[in-house]
Amino acid sequence: MKSLPQPTDAGLLRDLDQLAQPRTSHPWARLNAISPYYTMFPLSFPLQVLRGARPDWVLDPFCGRGTTNYAARVLGFPTVGVDVNPIAAAIAQAKLVSATAEGVANRCRAILASGEPRDVPEGAFWQACFHPRTLQDICRLREALAGAEAEEDVLLRALVLGVLHGPRNKGLPSYLSNQMPRTYATKPDAAVRFWRRKGLEPVYVNVLDVIERRARYLLAHLPAKVPGHIRLADSRALAPEDFAMRFRYVITSPPYFGMKTYVSDHWLRNWFLGGPPHVDYASDPQLGRSSLPAFIEGLREVWTRVSQVCEPGALLVVRFGAIPSYEVDPVEVLRASLRGTPWKERRLSDAGSASNGRRQADQFQFVRSRAALEVDLYASLEEA
Ligand SMILES: C[S@@+](CC[C@H](N)C(=O)[O-])C[C@H]1O[C@@H](n2cnc3c(N)ncnc32)[C@H](O)[C@@H]1O
Repeated sequence: MKSLPQPTDAGLLRDLDQLAQPRTSHPWARLNAISPYYTMFPLSFPLQVLRGARPDWVLDPFCGRGTTNYAARVLGFPTVGVDVNPIAAAIAQAKLVSATAEGVANRCRAILASGEPRDVPEGAFWQACFHPRTLQDICRLREALAGAEAEEDVLLRALVLGVLHGPRNKGLPSYLSNQMPRTYATKPDAAVRFWRRKGLEPVYVNVLDVIERRARYLLAHLPAKVPGHIRLADSRALAPEDFAMRFRYVITSPPYFGMKTYVSDHWLRNWFLGGPPHVDYASDPQLGRSSLPAFIEGLREVWTRVSQVCEPGALLVVRFGAIPSYEVDPVEVLRASLRGTPWKERRLSDAGSASNGRRQADQFQFVRSRAALEVDLYASLEEA
């Protein structure tokens, strides 16, 4: 392969050790935190897998918020991510583009100065969630950023997703909504009941100020761009002709069996991306929704399809676990899904070790009644 990019920034190279630490808040890691997303793995995990590897194409067929893709960018490796969830794809796309904070703020300013939004949702939830003027501005951005492709627009869209809802703080506001969690959006009726009970009225939040502050923080240190893209698609239907490149590394984490509310738990972010102004459970096109045999079959389909776009000897690293409410053995499920595919298991390790960061399952509100196992499985693609 000809001249693949390498990390050229001396500062970034010097800081890789710190950056590969779990839970780092290092400046180079900031863009990775542009918006919360369920069950992301820490940046340290793909960084540790790829560090020292020879530069080549990196794929994540369940890319979520694009952590693998951002790690690839940090190291100068070209990369592709695929996710079926529009929220994940919109966040992950922002990990591969570059723009200045000033450029993003100017774009935001121009959109907010444009005419009235065509569509402003009405009803008890919307009145109580956002101040009317803040909601108007959010709707202007929603309409202007639908189908965003320009780099500043892609970043601005992900920035809005990140600040759309969250807790109210004492000083300058960080989020646009009335009091809400930042990781998931409360369902409308429950949110309204909560705000009424607590007497919480929405206050005016200046959208441009919030975006500008956040952009200055997140975009201060961006690694050089690498070739690649994020694809909004179902990985069970990937085809070799979809890709001009062949992949050397696949680092991924499928949904754990039973995890099926990625879109409905992010319903407000989904609305911002053009979805309906209510919770739409039917729009969760997730692998985790099906029965266990169908889930395993779906995973097997993905591993098979992925093998067809990889080069011989490619490395597949899968972080996988179980959520406590489902009594399944994740190792058995994962091994069953790999059976009959060209991937050969090489190594299995516990993902909960200090070097890999905390477990994804811990990010749920569930009380863990038993130690849910989370593992990293390494496999290689057998030479044909
Ligand atoms: C555990 S999360 C991955 C999180 C990711 N590692 C990160 O750091 O953000 C699993 C992802 O798989 C996606 N997914 C589920 N079924 C899919 C399918 N059939 N094709 C592509 N993506 C799918 C979900 O939308 C979710 O974003």
